[in-house]
Amino acid sequence: MIQTLIVSFLFLPGLHAAASKKNIALGAQAVQSSTAFSGPAENAVDGNTESDYYQYSCTHTATEDNPWWRVELPDAYNITTVKITNRGDCCSERLYGAQIRIGNSLENNGNDNKLIATVGSRISYKFFPVEGRFVNIIIPGRQKILTLCEVKIFADEFILRNVALKGRATQSSLSVSGMWPGFGLAQNAIDGNRNPDLKKGSCTQTVEETAPWWRVDLHRNHEVYAVALTNRGDCCSERLDGAQIRVGTYIENEGKENPICAVVTSIPAGQTKLFECQRTLEGRYVTVVLPGNGTLSLCEVEVFMSPKFTLRKPN
Ligand SMILES: *[C@@H]1O[C@H](CO)[C@@H](O)[C@H](O)[C@H]1NC(C)=O
Ligand SMILES: *[C@@H]1O[C@H](CO)[C@@H](O)[C@H](O)[C@H]1NC(C)=O
Repeated sequence: MIQTLIVSFLFLPGLHAAASKKNIALGAQAVQSSTAFSGPAENAVDGNTESDYYQYSCTHTATEDNPWWRVELPDAYNITTVKITNRGDCCSERLYGAQIRIGNSLENNGNDNKLIATVGSRISYKFFPVEGRFVNIIIPGRQKILTLCEVKIFADEFILRNVALKGRATQSSLSVSGMWPGFGLAQNAIDGNRNPDLKKGSCTQTVEETAPWWRVDLHRNHEVYAVALTNRGDCCSERLDGAQIRVGTYIENEGKENPICAVVTSIPAGQTKLFECQRTLEGRYVTVVLPGNGTLSLCEVEVFMSPKFTLRKPN
């Protein structure tokens, strides 16, 4: 049973003071594929988030294929957050597409470790705990330059309670055709079982239709902080691409007009991904909707309240 999940609780207003957050990358050993323009690898772990390159606190590789940077933590940790300060005085787009990788292997300089996230415009990347001593940032491609002004890494833990387990689920339709007819009941996404194989009977599945949706009723309003989705692993994981997670107090139009918590870009086959809502959303209904035509299949949906609430009222 997945009663609780441990995730980072940083960046929540009001909790900073109480939290024992510690940047474990600070002062750790760092290396990179090459150094140019007096930008050594350690500059990204010096505790200085200055983003003006000319203040001598950023890294700089030469222009090369697949430039990378790596921090070697003193020990392995269950990492939950990586926060990057990009260069600010120019060229911030250079970092777009960089990969964050975490693991314990130094094979290929650590660049084959688990892919955690691809860098876009955000600065903070949060995820379920991934164990590793090495955190790599690599820009795949020809003739790239990697510059980082700071990389902070956190392994802080916090217990969040999944409030979906006691909810009631429904969906737009139930697939009764195909190889596993009737296996896709709506309730399967809140059964505490993340098994991603549809034929094990723990995933949902609608028919192919326009704007298929799935919804859980939490019975009363909660301050929803994050939602985790587990994608199907036995096939068709791309079907979830573009799905919207909506949270709100209204059931009209199946909750499809409630505020958007997050939009799925993609979730690798069989994996669980945590989506922090853009802001904490009050809601009784959590709806996952696929815009356009498609089949909606979810192997688990977990809904987390703001940890602040959990702190005051532990289960
Ligand atoms: C990471 O978490 C897993 C699962 O809870 C645990 O077995 C492992 O020992 C942890 N690793 C570290 C380095 O704390
Ligand atoms: C979606 O499916 C409906 C019904 O089959 C069809 O009429 C419509 O053209 C489809 N829309 C798209 C965007 O494919």
